[in-house]
Amino acid sequence: MHSFNYMRRQPLRLLFYLIIVPIAALSEVGLSWVLQVITDVVTGKQHFDYAWLCAGILLYIIARALLSFAQSFQRSRLLANSSRMLRNDLYSATLARSLNQFSRHDHGFFLAKFNKEVEVIEDTYYGTALRGYYLIWQLVFALAGTILIKPLVTVAIILLCIPSMLVPMFSQKKTGPAQTAVVDASTGYNNRVEDFINGFGTVKFNAAGSRFGSLFTNATAWLAKKEIHNQFVIKVISELLNFFDNIQYIGTWLLGGYLVLRGSITLGELVAFSQLMVFISYPLFSAADMLSQFYGGRAVVKNVTQYLQDAAPETPKAHLPQQIQAIDYHEVGLTVDDQPLLQGVDLHLATDRKYLIVGQSGSGKSTLMRQLFGYYQGYTGTITIDGIDLRDVSFSDITSHLTYVDQSTYLFNATLADNVTVFHDIPADKIRQAVAQSGLQDLLANNPDALQRMLSDKSTAISGGERQRLALARNRLKGPIFTIYDELTSGLDPRIATQIEDDLFASEQGLVLITHRYNPTIFAKADDIIVVNQGRIVTVGQDDSVDVQHALQQLGFL
Ligand SMILES: Nc1ncnc2c1ncn2[C@@H]1O[C@H](COP(=O)(O)OP(=O)(O)OP(=O)(O)O)[C@@H](O)[C@H]1O
Ligand SMILES: [Mg+2]
Repeated sequence: MHSFNYMRRQPLRLLFYLIIVPIAALSEVGLSWVLQVITDVVTGKQHFDYAWLCAGILLYIIARALLSFAQSFQRSRLLANSSRMLRNDLYSATLARSLNQFSRHDHGFFLAKFNKEVEVIEDTYYGTALRGYYLIWQLVFALAGTILIKPLVTVAIILLCIPSMLVPMFSQKKTGPAQTAVVDASTGYNNRVEDFINGFGTVKFNAAGSRFGSLFTNATAWLAKKEIHNQFVIKVISELLNFFDNIQYIGTWLLGGYLVLRGSITLGELVAFSQLMVFISYPLFSAADMLSQFYGGRAVVKNVTQYLQDAAPETPKAHLPQQIQAIDYHEVGLTVDDQPLLQGVDLHLATDRKYLIVGQSGSGKSTLMRQLFGYYQGYTGTITIDGIDLRDVSFSDITSHLTYVDQSTYLFNATLADNVTVFHDIPADKIRQAVAQSGLQDLLANNPDALQRMLSDKSTAISGGERQRLALARNRLKGPIFTIYDELTSGLDPRIATQIEDDLFASEQGLVLITHRYNPTIFAKADDIIVVNQGRIVTVGQDDSVDVQHALQQLGFL
């Protein structure tokens, strides 16, 4: 994202804004001239029919309202659209991240990008720039007006503005930290709210009488304290500004009054002066504040630009064939934070076969399989699919041949149909078929609207077993695909878990199932049982091989 990328991507809207703003600013500053004319007419300096004057001024007021509306609405449109484009770019850039890149940050990091940072960029970067453009024109026209009346007084007015311009410059040292403290306090508060809402059940069941409640009230107290301090700083500064503003404003009247007394300007010109003074002082004393906001916003823009560029585009050097036959690990090793997670792994998987992976918790079973999908960076050795190095293949190419289903099936805030298809447009009868074949016929229960039923991840209306069967239905709709099921059935009722596993092993499709459960039927059917220990493959063989029997005994299966 270049500095003004999102503005330049709406050239017509921007052009209209650039043109309408000077006209609107001129009409606003024109108020000074209008007041001068009224004063001149009522003091008899100019002769004009009063009724016509009133009519003319009414027209002026209408024109000013229209112009003001046009420029401010156009600004809102530019801002809303730049945020829209930025949000969409954030979506694409986030989706383009590898699973490894994604896992490096917590959810708060991403939520802040999509929400807070977009708002900050809209308000303080683009918003300030567009408002600044308006104020510059206002200043130019107001200065031109005073110069037309009396150049010397213009200099005096600018001198009178200096004290109030200095206030924001000196006060930044105080306002910055006070504002940051509020943001920090609200982050702390947000974390408590998140824990409270997401962990509502845990809080209800466990937190009564614990420190949880006082942590919450402490967070609200801290937030209020910081907000009050921030308001104190803001109010002191704004009263100082008011004070200097009054000096300027009343000073203009005193200075102008003196000139009227000497007869060098008319009363009407004095009125015009005092009004022009307002139009000059406002941009001048907003300047420091707006600049600091703009620079603050620019820091966020840099941050977000970096984020948008971080997702390195994939440049696949090879494509997988239509049908794949084999996945091979050669001497694969992986070390994360000086801890060896995988060591010297050699493994051959044929995509028409069924495998079980067993091993103690933490032995590296998930890591071994996740490595196929780029969960971790920088492994040694090679993994090939039909002889093609995985490093040369794009993620989407891999996932159109292989997929990974884990024990936590996420349910979207969407209909059952959308949850099964993951928002692909698939005919309803096909969805119903996949749902029924995955053992979820009860969910359909002869109800023609069942597919339109709304689900959500927090919903308890769908059981754990149904959730996992829903994952199977999802997978079924992808067509025949070699799937790694990572503890698909753990935590389920053993009878249901056994049923699901038996169903999987009864199908034609090749698969890998990582499991902690001993189900004799599938262990007997498995083409190979892969035993993992401390990041190494200890044994590969069938259920009845001596080594596998020994390993299963050690794991407490037999
Ligand atoms: N990103 C990571 N950074 C550091 N260590 C990790 C990371 N991911 C996994 N590990 C460690 O690697 C080891 C293997 O983890 P893995 O999840 O593969 O085990 P597992 O065999 O699947 O265990 P379980 O049966 O409990 O799921 C664990 O000690 C784990 O703490
Ligand atoms: Mg695991």
